[in-house]
Amino acid sequence: MQAPDFLSVHAGRVERALTRALDARAPAVPEQLLAAMRYSLLAGGKRVRPALVLEVYLACGGEQPDDAMPAALAIECMHTYSLIHDDLPCMDNDDLRRGMPTCHKKFDVATAVLAGDALQALSFALLTQADWDESLVVALSRKMALAAGCQGMVGGQMMDMLEESSAVKTSEILAVERIHVHKTGALICWCCEAGALLAGAERNIQDACVRYGKAVGLLFQIADDILDATASSEALGKSAGKDAEQHKATYVSILGLERARELAGEMCDLALEACEPLAERGEHLRELAHYILERGK
Ligand code: IPE
Ligand code: IPE
Ligand code: MG
Ligand code: MG
Ligand code: MG
Repeated sequence: MQAPDFLSVHAGRVERALTRALDARAPAVPEQLLAAMRYSLLAGGKRVRPALVLEVYLACGGEQPDDAMPAALAIECMHTYSLIHDDLPCMDNDDLRRGMPTCHKKFDVATAVLAGDALQALSFALLTQADWDESLVVALSRKMALAAGCQGMVGGQMMDMLEESSAVKTSEILAVERIHVHKTGALICWCCEAGALLAGAERNIQDACVRYGKAVGLLFQIADDILDATASSEALGKSAGKDAEQHKATYVSILGLERARELAGEMCDLALEACEPLAERGEHLRELAHYILERGK
Protein backbone atom coordinates (compact mmCIF):
# COMPACT_ATOMS: atom_id res chain seq x y z
CA MET A 1 0.00 0.00 0.00
CA GLN A 2 1.16 3.49 -0.88
CA ALA A 3 1.77 5.74 2.10
CA PRO A 4 -1.09 8.23 2.40
CA ASP A 5 -0.27 11.59 0.76
CA PHE A 6 -0.76 13.53 3.98
CA LEU A 7 2.16 11.60 5.52
CA SER A 8 4.67 13.11 3.11
CA VAL A 9 3.08 16.56 3.42
CA HIS A 10 3.52 16.48 7.22
CA ALA A 11 7.00 14.97 6.84
CA GLY A 12 8.14 17.88 4.67
CA ARG A 13 6.92 20.46 7.17
CA VAL A 14 8.35 18.57 10.13
CA GLU A 15 11.76 18.22 8.46
CA ARG A 16 11.93 21.92 7.67
CA ALA A 17 11.03 22.79 11.26
CA LEU A 18 13.58 20.30 12.64
CA THR A 19 16.25 21.87 10.43
CA ARG A 20 15.35 25.29 11.83
CA ALA A 21 15.49 23.98 15.41
CA LEU A 22 19.00 22.60 14.85
CA ASP A 23 20.19 25.67 12.94
CA ALA A 24 19.05 27.92 15.79
CA ARG A 25 21.27 25.97 18.20
CA ALA A 26 24.23 25.50 15.86
CA PRO A 27 26.46 28.34 17.09
CA ALA A 28 26.58 26.91 20.62
CA VAL A 29 26.94 23.21 19.78
CA PRO A 30 30.19 21.30 19.11
CA GLU A 31 30.38 20.72 15.38
CA GLN A 32 30.65 16.93 15.50
CA LEU A 33 27.72 16.59 17.89
CA LEU A 34 25.51 18.77 15.73
CA ALA A 35 26.58 16.88 12.61
CA ALA A 36 25.59 13.56 14.19
CA MET A 37 22.26 14.92 15.44
CA ARG A 38 21.50 16.35 12.02
CA TYR A 39 22.62 13.17 10.26
CA SER A 40 20.26 10.90 12.19
CA LEU A 41 17.35 13.29 12.55
CA LEU A 42 17.23 14.29 8.90
CA ALA A 43 18.09 10.87 7.46
CA GLY A 44 14.58 10.26 6.22
CA GLY A 45 12.26 8.06 8.20
CA LYS A 46 8.55 7.72 7.71
CA ARG A 47 7.68 10.39 10.33
CA VAL A 48 4.68 8.37 11.46
CA ARG A 49 4.80 9.76 15.00
CA PRO A 50 4.69 13.46 14.06
CA ALA A 51 1.89 12.62 11.60
CA LEU A 52 -0.04 10.97 14.43
CA VAL A 53 0.29 14.08 16.61
CA LEU A 54 -0.89 16.35 13.80
CA GLU A 55 -3.66 14.10 12.50
CA VAL A 56 -5.10 13.39 15.97
CA TYR A 57 -5.01 17.15 16.62
CA LEU A 58 -6.97 17.76 13.39
CA ALA A 59 -9.35 14.86 14.04
CA CYS A 60 -10.17 16.41 17.41
CA GLY A 61 -11.12 19.68 15.77
CA GLY A 62 -7.79 21.50 16.17
CA GLU A 63 -7.59 24.36 13.69
CA GLN A 64 -4.00 25.58 13.94
CA PRO A 65 -1.65 22.69 13.13
CA ASP A 66 1.33 24.97 13.80
CA ASP A 67 0.25 24.95 17.46
CA ALA A 68 0.80 21.20 17.57
CA MET A 69 4.12 21.34 15.71
CA PRO A 70 6.38 21.52 18.83
CA ALA A 71 4.88 18.22 19.98
CA ALA A 72 5.44 16.69 16.53
CA LEU A 73 9.10 17.80 16.58
CA ALA A 74 9.62 16.68 20.18
CA ILE A 75 8.41 13.15 19.52
CA GLU A 76 10.58 12.79 16.40
CA CYS A 77 13.65 13.86 18.42
CA MET A 78 12.78 11.36 21.16
CA HIS A 79 12.16 8.59 18.62
CA THR A 80 15.39 9.29 16.71
CA TYR A 81 17.36 9.17 19.95
CA SER A 82 15.76 5.79 20.71
CA LEU A 83 16.83 4.50 17.27
CA ILE A 84 20.44 5.73 17.63
CA HIS A 85 20.78 3.97 20.97
CA ASP A 86 18.86 0.88 19.77
CA ASP A 87 21.46 0.46 16.99
CA LEU A 88 24.55 0.70 19.25
CA PRO A 89 26.92 -2.28 19.40
CA CYS A 90 25.85 -2.94 23.00
CA MET A 91 22.17 -3.02 21.97
CA ASP A 92 21.02 -4.40 18.58
CA ASN A 93 24.40 -3.77 16.93
CA ASP A 94 23.06 -2.53 13.61
CA ASP A 95 24.96 -1.00 10.70
CA LEU A 96 22.06 0.31 8.66
CA ARG A 97 19.29 2.75 9.59
CA ARG A 98 16.97 4.75 7.38
CA GLY A 99 18.93 3.51 4.38
CA MET A 100 22.26 4.86 5.63
CA PRO A 101 25.06 3.75 7.97
CA THR A 102 23.94 3.95 11.60
CA CYS A 103 25.09 6.95 13.62
CA HIS A 104 27.90 5.06 15.40
CA LYS A 105 29.15 3.68 12.05
CA LYS A 106 29.14 7.09 10.38
CA PHE A 107 30.72 8.80 13.40
CA ASP A 108 31.80 6.72 16.43
CA VAL A 109 30.12 5.14 19.44
CA ALA A 110 30.80 8.02 21.82
CA THR A 111 29.40 10.55 19.34
CA ALA A 112 26.32 8.39 18.75
CA VAL A 113 25.66 8.04 22.49
CA LEU A 114 25.99 11.79 22.92
CA ALA A 115 23.86 12.63 19.86
CA GLY A 116 21.13 10.42 21.34
CA ASP A 117 21.45 12.10 24.74
CA ALA A 118 21.28 15.53 23.13
CA LEU A 119 18.18 14.64 21.08
CA GLN A 120 16.44 13.40 24.20
CA ALA A 121 17.11 16.70 25.96
CA LEU A 122 16.14 18.63 22.82
CA SER A 123 12.78 16.87 22.87
CA PHE A 124 11.99 18.35 26.29
CA ALA A 125 13.46 21.73 25.30
CA LEU A 126 11.03 21.89 22.37
CA LEU A 127 8.07 21.04 24.62
CA THR A 128 8.97 23.58 27.27
CA GLN A 129 9.55 26.34 24.71
CA ALA A 130 6.16 25.84 23.07
CA ASP A 131 3.73 28.70 23.18
CA TRP A 132 1.08 26.77 25.14
CA ASP A 133 -0.63 27.27 28.49
CA GLU A 134 1.80 26.40 31.22
CA SER A 135 -0.45 23.59 32.45
CA LEU A 136 -0.31 21.96 29.01
CA VAL A 137 3.49 22.29 28.85
CA VAL A 138 3.75 20.56 32.22
CA ALA A 139 1.22 17.85 31.34
CA LEU A 140 2.80 16.97 27.99
CA SER A 141 6.35 17.04 29.42
CA ARG A 142 5.33 14.82 32.32
CA LYS A 143 3.59 12.38 30.02
CA MET A 144 6.63 12.38 27.70
CA ALA A 145 8.92 11.59 30.65
CA LEU A 146 6.68 8.64 31.55
CA ALA A 147 6.42 7.39 27.97
CA ALA A 148 10.14 7.68 27.22
CA GLY A 149 11.70 6.67 30.51
CA CYS A 150 12.06 3.64 32.77
CA GLN A 151 8.29 3.07 32.89
CA GLY A 152 8.03 3.39 29.11
CA MET A 153 10.39 3.06 26.13
CA VAL A 154 13.64 2.63 28.08
CA GLY A 155 11.97 0.09 30.38
CA GLY A 156 10.79 -1.80 27.28
CA GLN A 157 14.26 -1.74 25.77
CA MET A 158 15.62 -3.23 29.00
CA MET A 159 13.03 -6.04 28.84
CA ASP A 160 13.94 -6.60 25.17
CA MET A 161 17.66 -6.90 26.00
CA LEU A 162 17.09 -9.19 29.00
CA GLU A 163 14.90 -11.45 26.90
CA GLU A 164 17.55 -11.58 24.17
CA SER A 165 20.28 -12.66 26.58
CA SER A 166 18.15 -15.07 28.58
CA ALA A 167 18.87 -18.77 28.12
CA VAL A 168 15.24 -19.62 28.80
CA LYS A 169 13.15 -18.02 26.07
CA THR A 170 9.69 -16.85 26.87
CA SER A 171 6.87 -18.62 25.13
CA GLU A 172 4.32 -16.24 26.54
CA ILE A 173 2.72 -13.86 24.13
CA LEU A 174 1.74 -11.65 27.08
CA ALA A 175 5.42 -11.21 27.95
CA VAL A 176 6.14 -10.06 24.39
CA GLU A 177 3.14 -7.78 24.43
CA ARG A 178 4.51 -6.20 27.60
CA ILE A 179 7.86 -5.54 25.88
CA HIS A 180 6.18 -4.05 22.80
CA VAL A 181 3.72 -1.90 24.71
CA HIS A 182 6.65 -0.35 26.56
CA LYS A 183 9.41 -0.09 23.95
CA THR A 184 7.20 1.15 21.09
CA GLY A 185 3.61 1.61 22.24
CA ALA A 186 4.28 4.21 24.91
CA LEU A 187 5.77 6.85 22.57
CA ILE A 188 3.10 6.22 19.93
CA CYS A 189 0.34 6.55 22.50
CA TRP A 190 1.91 9.81 23.69
CA CYS A 191 1.48 11.20 20.15
CA CYS A 192 -2.24 10.52 20.21
CA GLU A 193 -2.84 11.82 23.71
CA ALA A 194 -0.80 14.95 22.96
CA GLY A 195 -2.77 15.65 19.77
CA ALA A 196 -6.07 15.36 21.65
CA LEU A 197 -4.95 17.54 24.58
CA LEU A 198 -3.56 20.22 22.26
CA ALA A 199 -6.88 20.36 20.40
CA GLY A 200 -8.74 20.77 23.71
CA ALA A 201 -10.74 17.60 23.10
CA GLU A 202 -13.42 16.56 25.55
CA ARG A 203 -12.78 13.66 27.87
CA ASN A 204 -14.57 10.99 25.83
CA ILE A 205 -12.68 12.03 22.70
CA GLN A 206 -9.37 12.06 24.59
CA ASP A 207 -10.14 8.54 25.78
CA ALA A 208 -10.92 7.42 22.22
CA CYS A 209 -7.58 8.84 21.03
CA VAL A 210 -5.71 6.99 23.78
CA ARG A 211 -7.50 3.76 22.82
CA TYR A 212 -6.50 4.39 19.20
CA GLY A 213 -2.89 5.10 20.28
CA LYS A 214 -2.64 1.89 22.30
CA ALA A 215 -3.93 -0.22 19.42
CA VAL A 216 -1.77 1.49 16.80
CA GLY A 217 1.28 1.31 19.08
CA LEU A 218 1.05 -2.46 19.37
CA LEU A 219 0.09 -2.80 15.71
CA PHE A 220 3.20 -0.83 14.76
CA GLN A 221 5.60 -3.14 16.55
CA ILE A 222 3.85 -6.34 15.37
CA ALA A 223 4.18 -5.01 11.79
CA ASP A 224 7.86 -4.20 12.47
CA ASP A 225 8.40 -7.80 13.68
CA ILE A 226 6.67 -9.19 10.57
CA LEU A 227 8.71 -6.96 8.27
CA ASP A 228 11.95 -7.98 9.98
CA ALA A 229 11.12 -11.58 9.06
CA THR A 230 9.74 -11.01 5.56
CA ALA A 231 11.11 -7.86 3.91
CA SER A 232 14.55 -7.09 2.46
CA SER A 233 17.10 -4.79 4.08
CA GLU A 234 16.90 -2.67 0.95
CA ALA A 235 13.14 -2.18 1.29
CA LEU A 236 13.36 -1.50 5.03
CA GLY A 237 16.46 0.71 5.02
CA LYS A 238 17.63 -1.32 8.02
CA SER A 239 19.03 -4.82 8.31
CA ALA A 240 16.32 -7.45 7.98
CA GLY A 241 16.35 -10.83 9.67
CA LYS A 242 17.97 -9.45 12.82
CA ASP A 243 15.29 -10.56 15.25
CA ALA A 244 15.76 -14.26 14.52
CA GLU A 245 19.54 -13.86 14.42
CA GLN A 246 19.53 -12.20 17.84
CA HIS A 247 16.87 -14.49 19.31
CA LYS A 248 14.51 -11.60 20.05
CA ALA A 249 11.12 -12.28 21.55
CA THR A 250 8.68 -11.14 18.87
CA TYR A 251 5.14 -11.88 17.75
CA VAL A 252 6.62 -13.83 14.85
CA SER A 253 9.04 -15.90 16.95
CA ILE A 254 6.30 -16.95 19.36
CA LEU A 255 3.20 -17.20 17.22
CA GLY A 256 4.52 -17.60 13.69
CA LEU A 257 3.88 -15.32 10.74
CA GLU A 258 0.29 -16.25 10.09
CA ARG A 259 -0.95 -15.69 13.63
CA ALA A 260 1.13 -12.49 13.92
CA ARG A 261 -0.64 -11.20 10.81
CA GLU A 262 -4.02 -12.10 12.25
CA LEU A 263 -3.24 -10.28 15.48
CA ALA A 264 -2.03 -7.24 13.54
CA GLY A 265 -5.42 -7.28 11.80
CA GLU A 266 -7.18 -7.44 15.16
CA MET A 267 -5.16 -4.49 16.45
CA CYS A 268 -6.07 -2.55 13.32
CA ASP A 269 -9.76 -3.33 13.95
CA LEU A 270 -9.43 -2.04 17.51
CA ALA A 271 -7.85 1.16 16.20
CA LEU A 272 -10.69 1.62 13.70
CA GLU A 273 -13.27 1.01 16.40
CA ALA A 274 -11.61 3.63 18.60
CA CYS A 275 -12.08 6.16 15.76
CA GLU A 276 -15.87 5.83 15.84
CA PRO A 277 -16.53 8.83 18.13
CA LEU A 278 -14.47 10.97 15.72
CA ALA A 279 -16.91 10.17 12.90
CA GLU A 280 -15.76 11.44 9.49
CA ARG A 281 -13.01 13.54 11.05
CA GLY A 282 -11.23 10.28 11.91
CA GLU A 283 -10.74 9.34 8.26
CA HIS A 284 -6.99 10.05 8.12
CA LEU A 285 -6.46 8.14 11.37
CA ARG A 286 -8.22 5.15 9.82
CA GLU A 287 -5.97 5.47 6.76
CA LEU A 288 -2.88 5.58 8.97
CA ALA A 289 -3.93 2.41 10.82
CA HIS A 290 -4.53 0.64 7.48
CA TYR A 291 -1.17 1.84 6.16
CA ILE A 292 0.66 0.48 9.21
CA LEU A 293 -1.18 -2.85 8.90
CA GLU A 294 -0.55 -3.12 5.14
CA ARG A 295 3.17 -2.41 5.53
CA GLY A 296 3.35 -5.59 7.58
CA LYS A 297 1.67 -7.83 5.02
C1 IPE B 1 11.37 1.82 13.98
O1 IPE B 1 10.44 2.87 13.89
C2 IPE B 1 11.52 1.40 15.40
C3 IPE B 1 10.31 0.87 16.01
C4 IPE B 1 9.81 1.37 17.08
C5 IPE B 1 9.65 -0.28 15.42
P1 IPE B 1 9.97 3.43 12.48
O2 IPE B 1 9.57 2.28 11.60
O3 IPE B 1 8.95 4.48 12.71
O4 IPE B 1 11.30 4.07 11.91
P2 IPE B 1 11.49 5.37 11.01
O5 IPE B 1 11.30 6.54 11.91
O6 IPE B 1 10.49 5.34 9.89
O7 IPE B 1 12.90 5.28 10.51
C1 IPE C 1 13.08 -0.80 18.75
O1 IPE C 1 12.56 -2.01 18.32
C2 IPE C 1 12.15 0.01 19.51
C3 IPE C 1 12.84 1.23 19.99
C4 IPE C 1 12.61 1.69 21.15
C5 IPE C 1 13.79 1.94 19.13
P1 IPE C 1 13.45 -2.71 17.20
O2 IPE C 1 14.82 -2.99 17.69
O3 IPE C 1 12.68 -3.85 16.63
O4 IPE C 1 13.52 -1.54 16.09
P2 IPE C 1 14.30 -1.69 14.72
O5 IPE C 1 13.72 -2.90 14.03
O6 IPE C 1 15.74 -1.82 15.03
O7 IPE C 1 13.94 -0.42 13.99
MG1 MG D 1 15.76 -3.25 19.51
MG1 MG E 1 16.68 -2.68 16.59
MG1 MG F 1 12.49 -4.34 14.59
